[in-house]
Amino acid sequence: MAFLDKHKIIEKNATLLLVLSFLVVTIGGLVQIVPLFYLQNTIETVQGMRPYTPLELAGRDIFIREGCYVCHSQMIRPMRDEVERYGHYSLAAESEYDHPFQWGSKRTGPDLARVGGKYSNSWHVDHLSNPQVIVPESVMPKYAFLATTPIDPQYMAQEMSTHRMVGVPYTDDEITNAKADFAAQDNPDGDSTGLIARYGNKVTVANFDGQPELTEMDALVAYLQMLGTLVDFSTFTPDASR
Ligand code: HEC
Repeated sequence: MAFLDKHKIIEKNATLLLVLSFLVVTIGGLVQIVPLFYLQNTIETVQGMRPYTPLELAGRDIFIREGCYVCHSQMIRPMRDEVERYGHYSLAAESEYDHPFQWGSKRTGPDLARVGGKYSNSWHVDHLSNPQVIVPESVMPKYAFLATTPIDPQYMAQEMSTHRMVGVPYTDDEITNAKADFAAQDNPDGDSTGLIARYGNKVTVANFDGQPELTEMDALVAYLQMLGTLVDFSTFTPDASR
C-alpha cells in the first residue's frame, strides 16, 4: 500500500522519525497547555474557603514536618468507593491556600481530606499520643511528644506574609494580629471576637489538647479538625460550565 510505503521511509530513518515525533508531541502539548493561559481562572471560587488561622497554619507545618503525608493523602477522588467512605470528592478550590498542597500519593492510613469534625479533640490527642490504644493493629507512629512540646507563635506573622507573597489573601490586620489570634483560638474562656471577625464563625475555638499551655498538639489538632469542613456541601452545586 502506498501509505505504508511512505511510512516505511519514516521508520527506516531514525533522525526523521525523531524530528517528526518531536513535532507531534510539541503540537499535542501546545493544544493542551496554551488554553490554560487564556482561561481567566482554572479553579472555580467556592463559598466558605478562607486562609488558615495562625494556629491551624502552625499545625499544618507540624503535619508536614512529621511527614504525615507519607502515609496519609488529602484528596478524595470522584469515585464511588472513595465518596462513600470519605465524603464529597475534594474540590481544587479546597487546596487553593495550600503551599505546598498535601494531596499525597500514598495511603498507608486513611485519606484525611475530610477528617475535620469526625472525631472529638480528645480522640485525636489519645490517637496521636498512642494510636495502638485505639486501633491495636495500627502501624502509625506515636506522637506523644507533641503534647509536651510548647509552641511559640513568634514567626507566624512572617510566615503569613510569605504565604501572602504566593497568593494567600492574608490581610494586614490578620498578619498584625497573628500572635493574638494564635493564642485566642486555644482559649475558649478568652476573647475570640477578633479571631472570629477576621476568619469567620467556622473557626473552632477550643483548648484542643486539654492542657493549660499551648503545645504542638494543640496546633496539629486544630488543623486536623478543620480539614474539609469549610465548604458547605448541602448548598454547594458544582459549576458545570467550566
Ligand atoms: C507509618 C504510616 C503513618 C504515619 C507516618 C502517620 N499515620 Fe496516621 N494513620 C496510619 C494508619 C495505618 C491509620 C489507621 C489506623 C489508625 O487509626 O491508627 C492512621 C490513622 C490516622 C487518623 C484517623 C483517620 C480516620 O479517619 O480514622 C488520623 C487523624 C491520623 N492518622 C493522623 C496522622 C497524623 C496527624 C500524622 C502525623 C503526625 C500521622 N497520622 C502519621 C498511618 C500513619
